[in-house]
Amino acid sequence: MAETMKGLKRTHRCGELSAANLGETVTVMGWVQKQRNKGGIIFVDLRDRAGILQVIFEESECGSDNFAKAERLRSEYVVAVVGRVEKRAAAANENLATGEIEVRAEQLRILSEAETPPFPIEADSKTKEELRLKYRYLDLRRPNLQRNLMLRSRITTTIRQQMTEAGFLEIETPMLTKSTPEGARDYLVPSRVHPGSFYALPQSPQIFKQLLMCSGYDRYFQIARCFRDEDLRADRQPEFTQVDMEMSFVDVEDVIDATEKMVERVCREAVGLNITLPLPRMTWREAMERFGSDKPDTRFGMELVNVSEVVRNCGFGVFTGALENGGSVRGINIKGQAEMPRKKIDALTEFARGYGAKGLAYLSVQQDGSYKSSFAKFMTEEELQALTAAMGGEKGDLLLFAADKTDLVYSVLGALRVEIARQLDMIDNNKFNFLWVTEFPLLEWSEEENRYVAMHHPFTMPMDEDLALLDTEPGKVRAKAYDIVLNGVELGGGSVRIFQPEVQEKMFEVLGFTREAAYERFGFLINAFKYGVPPHAGLAIGLDRFVMLLVKADNIREVIAFPKVKDASCLMSEAPNAVDEAQLKELRIKPDLSDGDD
Ligand code: AMO
Ligand code: AMP
Repeated sequence: MAETMKGLKRTHRCGELSAANLGETVTVMGWVQKQRNKGGIIFVDLRDRAGILQVIFEESECGSDNFAKAERLRSEYVVAVVGRVEKRAAAANENLATGEIEVRAEQLRILSEAETPPFPIEADSKTKEELRLKYRYLDLRRPNLQRNLMLRSRITTTIRQQMTEAGFLEIETPMLTKSTPEGARDYLVPSRVHPGSFYALPQSPQIFKQLLMCSGYDRYFQIARCFRDEDLRADRQPEFTQVDMEMSFVDVEDVIDATEKMVERVCREAVGLNITLPLPRMTWREAMERFGSDKPDTRFGMELVNVSEVVRNCGFGVFTGALENGGSVRGINIKGQAEMPRKKIDALTEFARGYGAKGLAYLSVQQDGSYKSSFAKFMTEEELQALTAAMGGEKGDLLLFAADKTDLVYSVLGALRVEIARQLDMIDNNKFNFLWVTEFPLLEWSEEENRYVAMHHPFTMPMDEDLALLDTEPGKVRAKAYDIVLNGVELGGGSVRIFQPEVQEKMFEVLGFTREAAYERFGFLINAFKYGVPPHAGLAIGLDRFVMLLVKADNIREVIAFPKVKDASCLMSEAPNAVDEAQLKELRIKPDLSDGDD
């Protein structure tokens, strides 16, 4: 039978011991990483969240009972050891923080035995992720994940400190609520008491935080869980965490300032990264023109060049056709890649097609000044030279062009630029490039719905200069909306909110909401604004993404204790699952398991 801790009290975590503890008698507890029996002497690597410690058992010191127990130890047994800290007899192990010392055991208790785990608990696991996620509680023992989650905890602590010191109040908002305006699909929770009615889990605390401003709380923040039923990607989870904030009597600058201070402090205190404030800024228009993206990765160049004017009258129908249709022709210059094999260019073309491109035109500038190209035969030598010059092309460069509607050209080249930089290893992983993208368009045309939809959400304030355009050219109105971007990932976003009823009504009108529809969804907010509302603004940072980038993980799952996989299921708990007939009956729900496409 397993022993207990009775009479023992842990004095240190394994990984906390160092040469400073030499000569002390300590009590440590943890998991057996490895046991090596060398005959008269047994070495045990003992692990806890602080690190690994070498423990040595010799019969002459620990006695035969303890030695016999040490002989039985296997990986993942949980033990308590009392012993003396000594200098390592063998050469120090530089790979271990505790590498200069070892603990010479005097007492051993086996607190819990362990079956052989389905995969070894080791730093850089080669085990398939599905298996690790099924046994997430074991995977979470690995030092990488422990480091990530410990850092995440340190980050949230720092955020709370900074926000509190800056005068923000931490206030919780409900999880069982009504649909919010972020525009993803809601997770719904059936009501037992009101059959046929549903709560929505919040996509964000948006409406509640605005109501808190109405109620005079002035500065609010929350580390808030949000739920969105959308397709998962490497940086998306169905439930995730926002650092959410809202401020009264402020404009764009104040929100940016409060956010920057928080981000700067987190970087400095939690990960020792010094960033300089103010962070760089760029308007949305500039971001699109230069990088083809509203979340540009500025760690490398290869910017887009608009060559529409240069090729307007050339002989290549693909280019002139796109221009005649009101589109544009833009290119990127891949320096020194003139010799890229045709196969690779074809693969890039396929990649571009994945983003909707009809093709990708290339022009490779050879060392002898001649060209290899998919379209050179349609152009004169002068036209080719002018095009090359416009692209800053030199001998040895590869120029790639997309011709289409400008939005499409942006998204194709924006994605291609990042893909090529990755393939050619052009990105410096030690850089942390923050960037504010400002002056987002207020609206975006939805082909699907044949109407304008809010680019951020329907409470976002138009820029003062553009207010008048709301009636005449709504598509041109810029918003007081901003995103904070880190290394090409959208870290967070927010806006100044509309607080004037007449502007809000106009906005709903442009969005094609009837008065009734607007009231039905957001009535309590619209009504609240009738009783005195301060101008207010806010933002939310995706905490999971922030931590992911700070620890240089390439998937958000690496910084979430119990994440979900692509189909939004949890491989460990096997949620979601079918429920009892009785439970459904109580909720008056009858599942319809036909394929649902009626
Ligand atoms: P937004 O919808 O831009 O704004 O969300 C803010 C930030 O939340 C993170 N995020 C996600 N992280 C992981 N998984 C997801 N599925 C996911 N979706 C969003 C992103 C994003 O930048 N209420 C507004 C904020 C405001 O206006 O104050 C909002 O939710 O990092
Ligand atoms: P085609 O005349 O269709 O054979 O195309 C000639 C070249 O132009 C090929 O390399 C195509 O990949 C490329 N191309 C076709 N459509 C586009 C486009 N919309 N933008 C850029 N290049 C294109």
